[in-house]
Amino acid sequence: MLFDTHTHLDQSDFDEIRGEVIQRAADAGVTQILAVGCTANDSRKCVSLAAEYPEVYAAVGIQPNYVAEAQNDDWAVIEQLATAPGVIAIGETGLDRHWDYTPFDLQRDYFDRHIRLAQQHDLPFIVHMRDCDDDIMQSLREARTRGILKGIMHSFTGDTAMAAECVELGMHISFAGMVTFRKSQALRDCAATIPDERLLIETDCPYLSPEPVRGKRPNEPANVRHTAECLAQVRGVSLQQLADLTTANARALFGL
Ligand code: NI
Repeated sequence: MLFDTHTHLDQSDFDEIRGEVIQRAADAGVTQILAVGCTANDSRKCVSLAAEYPEVYAAVGIQPNYVAEAQNDDWAVIEQLATAPGVIAIGETGLDRHWDYTPFDLQRDYFDRHIRLAQQHDLPFIVHMRDCDDDIMQSLREARTRGILKGIMHSFTGDTAMAAECVELGMHISFAGMVTFRKSQALRDCAATIPDERLLIETDCPYLSPEPVRGKRPNEPANVRHTAECLAQVRGVSLQQLADLTTANARALFGL
């Protein structure tokens, strides 16, 4: 059994095919799926998907690239949704210097709000990072002074030293389809160094289809199996062992 810890199952790519996609996931052994919100509205939709499908759980938050367009009461909506049934994480949050949609100070402010909200409810938070490794580490180190961190570095693309420090701070490291790409040897080498109890897997679907279905859109939770196979090979364990390990890690982290 596999746990896809990061999907955007709420997105319209899945509107006509959501039932089939969840069935294909189950057929592939992917029996638990986290639907992650990027806006207040998306987060609401993730919560209703969690109510509709027993395999689906929800994470609620405002992704850094969408913070600029957030309305005044959107943050209050997230605070309220944090205690809704089926909500097991806060996010996605984080920082992004690749796209220039949201002023960086505002991104930092929202990243910190998400971490505090997660700490307040004893939920893990989900970190998006793009082209800002140093800024992310600075925010995490600061948050760590307030208490143990519990969260996920999602679709991790940093280096081995960064992964080690994240683990040291209490974080889990989650790998998406990118780790399967031919050019990603450094990322596979990094994946080999993550302590057993901190490793997670995800699709980040509908984006980032893994090899051998790279480029296919939409990506879907059933494909997390390819990423699991790649990581099993990299770490010298069987697919079964990798699946058992990452599913147990996810369940423990989410308190399931
Ligand atoms: Ni995402």
